[in-house]
Amino acid sequence: MHYEEFKNVVKRIYLMFSLLAVMLFIMALGVVCNMLYPSFLGFNKESTPTYETPESLGVIDRNDIKNGIHQPTGLVEGEGLEQVVVSCTPCHSAKLVTQNRATKEGWVGIIRWMQETQNLWDLGANETIIVDYLATHYAPENKGRRDVLSNIEWYNLDVK
Ligand code: HEC
Repeated sequence: MHYEEFKNVVKRIYLMFSLLAVMLFIMALGVVCNMLYPSFLGFNKESTPTYETPESLGVIDRNDIKNGIHQPTGLVEGEGLEQVVVSCTPCHSAKLVTQNRATKEGWVGIIRWMQETQNLWDLGANETIIVDYLATHYAPENKGRRDVLSNIEWYNLDVK
């Protein structure tokens, strides 16, 4: 191999490696940018789910309500039940709602927490209706002590 030829080969290899290095650098830059500014490259875009609104669903089936309980969800019948079924059951079981008790402020706090961390959307005008429903039917029980015992069959203690 002539010296000139050899030089050309080396040059070409050198060029290829330079290109590769530049490409790697750009990729690394992209990764860093994406880490620092997640929205920068358009990745990690949160898809906004399109859930049905109460208006599009209409009223829940009244036949599903038995003994004051909406059977499919276990929620208590009352004003705002429709809004709660529609807004509070797409992500998790209604049990999470029925097993919790809180004041108005407490429920608003839970809703804010879900909005800030769990992608819960703005409930708009329904929020007041929902919070009123929750604070009415799922209020803290606040029993200081147990109820007085009832229906007890007392017996006479025989002391000899
Ligand atoms: C966008 C989805 C979404 C919607 C809609 C939603 N939640 Fe949640 N919620 C969550 C997630 C996620 C959790 C956490 C579940 C877990 O811990 O397993 C949660 C947890 C909860 C908890 C338990 C909080 C705790 O302290 O453990 C309650 C109570 C609750 N949600 C009530 C509601 C009510 C009331 C509504 C209707 C206004 C609602 N959720 C609507 C996503 C949602």
